Amino acid sequence: MLNKIEEAGSSKATFYELLGGAETGTSKIRDLVETFYDIMDSDPKAQDIRALHPADLTAAREKLFMFLTGWTGGPQLYIERYGHPMLRKRHLPFTIGESERDQWMYCMIKAMQKLKIEENLMKKLAEQLYGVADFMRNKNV
Ligand code: HEM
Repeated sequence: MLNKIEEAGSSKATFYELLGGAETGTSKIRDLVETFYDIMDSDPKAQDIRALHPADLTAAREKLFMFLTGWTGGPQLYIERYGHPMLRKRHLPFTIGESERDQWMYCMIKAMQKLKIEENLMKKLAEQLYGVADFMRNKNV
C-alpha cells in the first residue's frame, strides 16, 4: 500500500502523520470520513453512489474510518477487525464505472476542501485515492 510520501529533503512522513495522527493521537481522518459521507448523503451530484449504500451509513462511516487509518500509515484498525480488505472484491456487488468513481472522488475532494486540508497534502492524497477508486471500477463506462 502506498502510504508514504516524500517530503522536502530526505525525511518521509506518512499521510497519517501529515493529517495530525502522530502528534495528537487523533488524525483528521474521522472528520474527513464524517464530512465525506455527509456530502454523499446530501449532495445531488453524489446521488447515484448514495443509492448504492444502505439507508443507515453508520457502518460504512466506521469501516471507511478504520480502513483509511491503516491505509494512511496509522494503526491497521480495519485489518485487525476484518482481515485483509480485499477492497475490489468487496465492491463487486456494486456496479462501479467512471461516473461512480468520479462521484466518490467528488465527495472526497469536497470534504478535504471543507476541512481546509493543506493544498499540497490534498493533491497527493487525492492522487492516491483516485488510484484506489479507479481500481474499484468493475464496468467499462
Ligand atoms: C469508486 C467508487 C466507490 C463506490 C461507488 C463505493 C461504494 C461502496 C459501497 C456501496 C459500500 C458498502 C457500504 C455498506 O454496506 O455499508 C462500500 C464499502 C466500503 N468501501 Fe467503497 N466505494 C467506492 C470507492 C471506495 C474507495 C476508493 C475506498 C477506499 C479508499 C472504499 C472503501 C470502502 C470500505 C473500506 C468499505 C467497507 C467494506 C466492508 O468491510 O464491507 N470505497 N463502498
